[in-house]
Amino acid sequence: MKNKKDIYILGIESSCDETSVAVIKNGKEVLSNVINTQIDIHKLYGGVVPEIASRNHVMNIDGVYEEALKRANVTIGDIDAIAVTYGAGLLGSLIVGVNFAKALAYSTGKPLIKVNHIEGHIAGNYIAHSDLEPPFICLIVSGGHTALVEMKTYMERKLIGTTTDDAIGEAFDKVARECGLSYPGGPSVQKQAESGKAVIKFTNMLKEKITDYNFSYSGLKTAVINYLHNKRQKNEEINIPDVCASFQDEAVMQVVTKSMQAVRQLGFKKIVLAGGVSANLHLRKRMEEEAQKIGVSVYYPPISLCTDNAAMIASAGYYNYIENKSIVDPRVLVPTSNIAL
Ligand code: KG4
Ligand code: ZN
Repeated sequence: MKNKKDIYILGIESSCDETSVAVIKNGKEVLSNVINTQIDIHKLYGGVVPEIASRNHVMNIDGVYEEALKRANVTIGDIDAIAVTYGAGLLGSLIVGVNFAKALAYSTGKPLIKVNHIEGHIAGNYIAHSDLEPPFICLIVSGGHTALVEMKTYMERKLIGTTTDDAIGEAFDKVARECGLSYPGGPSVQKQAESGKAVIKFTNMLKEKITDYNFSYSGLKTAVINYLHNKRQKNEEINIPDVCASFQDEAVMQVVTKSMQAVRQLGFKKIVLAGGVSANLHLRKRMEEEAQKIGVSVYYPPISLCTDNAAMIASAGYYNYIENKSIVDPRVLVPTSNIAL
């Protein structure tokens, strides 16, 4: 039975290859979080095929929505507002979730809240850690982003560093493909790295850019690709676990060093990880080791809330809803493939 004071948000996420609908109570309690992932379909092609992703969202969304209400044991009448990812992401994928949310909001008269996908990844941490409150520094590491954000309040954020080229997740995926590993690349590289040693020195990305909070991954990615091509040309044996361990070590070192630099220089006591790459165990371990040395606490979501899901979107929607922010007319909301943080 819903208490009158409780706020229930229905979240909808379809920005890439996961169709997800969730119901969240008071911003932090997950009543349901149904995720239909298309990983097995896209694995056949070595990466997400946008056209196939959007077709599958269309086929899945009704069922995922019904299941989310059922598991939460609520009806649409119990929901206070509908939150949907409107960007960033694949346009054809976003259109499906956004149109579903618009029709639902319009037909039920419920408020519609537009959520930035990255805002959602950050909010995944509020679900996981009931004691977590801003201010903190957030490191966002996903397939599309590598960024450091200063979270002043739940709503106020300031971008302090971003990638000058590729995102870290993109580099993991590309290296995995070049090593002949399966999609999604991040978990495959991590698995190989477990039995390898970080003995190959590809590049030292920190050398040039140590003074700011920006990142660069194309140099490292290219160095790994060149290494593999050279070895193959010479018909030399390649130790894939060592390649993966060496790449992972360098990739993680960059985000850990810059994060520590930011919390120290800006005087923060908490570092929060968000986005798909925050599932990486080496990243979590290295960040914890370095943070402990300077008395900083590290937060990250459980693996299930690191990759794309609607619970995090509903949570971000909640913080907007209670502040009366980002509420939009369902007739005019347009999905956007590229939006700033
Ligand atoms: O946040 P996400 O699900 O989608 C985007 O918003 O981009 O992140 C997906 C990215 C992919 O690049 C995937 O390879 C990476 O997260 N990833 C990982 C791990 N799990 C997922 N990267 C490294 N280690 C992992 N364990
Ligand atoms: Zn994501």
